[in-house]
Parts: sequence; structure tokens; C-alpha cells
Amino acid sequence: MFILIRIDEIYGLLRSNFAGYFMRMRRKNNLEQRLSACSECLICRLFAVDNGIKVTGLSDTGTPDKLFETFYRSLNIAGGGFAAGQDFPVWVEIGCGKGGFVNQAALLYPDVQFIAVEKNENVAITALERTCAEKIPNIRYIIGLAEYLEKIIPPACISRIFLNFSCPFPKKRHEKHRLTSGAFLEMYKRILTDDGEISFKTDNTAFFEYSVNSFIENNFLLKNISHDLHNSNITGIAGNIITEYENLFLKKGVKINYLEAIKK
Ligand SMILES: C[S@@+](CC[C@H](N)C(=O)[O-])C[C@H]1O[C@@H](n2cnc3c(N)ncnc32)[C@H](O)[C@@H]1O
Repeated sequence: MFILIRIDEIYGLLRSNFAGYFMRMRRKNNLEQRLSACSECLICRLFAVDNGIKVTGLSDTGTPDKLFETFYRSLNIAGGGFAAGQDFPVWVEIGCGKGGFVNQAALLYPDVQFIAVEKNENVAITALERTCAEKIPNIRYIIGLAEYLEKIIPPACISRIFLNFSCPFPKKRHEKHRLTSGAFLEMYKRILTDDGEISFKTDNTAFFEYSVNSFIENNFLLKNISHDLHNSNITGIAGNIITEYENLFLKKGVKINYLEAIKK
């Protein structure tokens, strides 16, 4: 009895503090067929294996030693006319979930090429299927861990990165998985253009404070910092597009923390 009460209390605490972040997603039916049906939106799947990184789902001319080319080609298919330099901005969302944000953003910004990254293919399939069904031309997906993005994204070619409601990983021993920890910020600097920036929003105040410090320690310049985005005068894409998780938190009356970090 005693143990049951304790477990129940702990479960309640976890649910109230980190609701939704650690929900298990059941494997979707016919996942492989559904992913193949969306292959034109999919740059590749990128996963760690014992002896390195496994890349699958490349178009027929793509090989793992030519990943940058695959990247450029996939942008070319999407936007047309992508030259060696940069003909249009490329924006990346890391942890796109079911794609509510990226699918709206791509329609609002047709001149931007979007790359959406999601490690969970059972979640990503919803995003991909929406992009294909609505024939949105300017989104391409990478299914896999953001940790390996530099394998496929060349240096200095991304102008904006969105981190929307990234998992907070509250335990200290999981810090390296936080998408705003030092190693990630260093990697973002390498793939960002000179004036590139990161937009970050989260409901979780402790994670926000951690991230503010991490951005400063890693030499980013911060602007538009808010502890209550939707009661601030911050406008543009951050305020106008509500993500799936944001919607859940707003319904519960939770305030949203927001910042923009510029590469110095
Ligand atoms: C809490 S959800 C937020 C989803 C969406 N951005 C939103 O705001 O509704 C975080 C998402 O990030 C993904 N994710 C977490 N760590 C990741 C990583 N290292 N690489 C790629 N995706 C990651 C998770 O699988 C999850 O779908």
C-alpha cells in the first residue's frame, strides 16, 4: 500500500512537470510503406549503428560518402535553381514532432527552404504525410538524431534554426541530450551562416534558464527574451505559429518562454 501511494505521487509529479514530453508513441501501422510513399519529401534517415552512422532512404544517386551532395540535390528538387552559393534561405526545425509548425511556416514563407528533423519516425510520418498531401514544395525531412546533422548539412548554410519545445531532459546525467547544451550549440554555430540565428521556445522555466546560460557561455548574442511570449510585443513567426505542444500548454494557462540567439 505504502509503495503504491508513493509511486502514484511520483507519477503525478512527473505528469504535472513534464506532461507530454515522455509519452510513448506506438509503432504506426504500415510505417515502411507510408514512409516510402513520402520519399520525395525525405532527404534521408540517419541513425547510429555499432560501427558508425547508417544512412538510408537516399535517392538512387545518393551514397553515404556524398551526403552533402544529397542535401544540395534535395534542396534543388524542392526550390529549383539552388546554386553553389545560396539562392534562398534554408531554415531548420529540430524536433519537429508531428510537423504542425513547419507545415504552417513553409506556407507562410514560400521563399524559404525548410528542413525538418525528427528522431521518432512514428511521429515524423504524420508531418511527412501532411506535407505530401498538401503538396507543400519547400519542406524536406531528415528522420534521425540531430547529433549527426553535420554529416549531411554542410557548414555555414543554415540561416535559422527553430527549437520548439525541445525535450528538457531534467536529469543532470541526461544534460548532453538537451538540444541547447554546449556541444549542440557549437555544432549549430558551424552549420549556421554568419548572421544565422536560433529561435527557442519552451514552457519549462528551469530548462529556459539553463539554456540562457548555455547560449551566453557559448558566445551567442541574445535578443527578444520573454517569459510570456503571448503577452509580449514579439511578433513574426515565433508568435504567430503555435506548435502542437505549445497549444497544449496554452490551454492549461502555462506561460511560454522565448528567446532568439544570434551567432556572434
Ligand atoms: C516535446 S516534442 C515537441 C514537438 C514540436 N516541436 C512541438 O512543439 O509540438 C520534442 C520532439 O523532439 C524530438 N527530439 C528530441 N531529441 C531529438 C534529437 N536529438 N534529434 C531529433 N529529434 C529529437 C522528439 O522525438 C520529439 O518529437
